Amino acid sequence: MHRHSQTGHIEIICGSMFSGKTEELIRRVKRATIARMKVQVFKPMLDNRYEGERINSHSGFNFVAQPVVSAVDVLRAVEPDTEIVAIDEIQFFDWEISGVCNLLADRGIVVLAAGLDLDFRGEPFGPMPLLMAQAEQVTKLSAICVVCGGPASRTQRLINGSPASYTDPIILVGASDSYEARCRKCHVVAGRSEKPE
Ligand code: TMP
Ligand code: MG
Ligand code: ZN
Repeated sequence: MHRHSQTGHIEIICGSMFSGKTEELIRRVKRATIARMKVQVFKPMLDNRYEGERINSHSGFNFVAQPVVSAVDVLRAVEPDTEIVAIDEIQFFDWEISGVCNLLADRGIVVLAAGLDLDFRGEPFGPMPLLMAQAEQVTKLSAICVVCGGPASRTQRLINGSPASYTDPIILVGASDSYEARCRKCHVVAGRSEKPE
């Protein structure tokens, strides 16, 4: 049976670091493989936190994934009988990834993508606003603020234990060595103007 034409859509899983995005992506992928659907999983090459061709959650879950350099590589690598395309760390792709996800969904493929909605400054991360607007389904996960124990929507970057500056580079691959989950109140960005522009 060809399920393609009815199913194509985009599902986004977003939230701060340590909110369980990759774990949720892997859960959805595993569920599909149990139903014997053909799944291909991708991750941006940029994320070199872990060795090998796998996506890894902070809690230790992992799954095989094909590292790709750009959005067009995803398109090239998708095989004709693939039903589900899953992409982790999608915030690291450029805006072209939106065109690719939509093309795949139009073809009948289910696109599952996980990524950070906000960078360490608390501002929208790369193509995420576009993808979240175009997706049929958006799941926003929260972590727990390490300072106050409330729900965490933000990611605090710490450089030698101090909040990173607003002008620091957006991309800095890392885990609990340089990041922690925090709520809006406890999230600090050095040098950010407090007033809206
Ligand atoms: P995670 O969402 O799976 O925890 O991974 C997020 C990755 O993104 C991690 O390698 C740290 C990186 N990162 C940045 O490069 N810039 C940022 O502003 C933030 C918050 C994370
Ligand atoms: Mg992750
Ligand atoms: Zn807090």
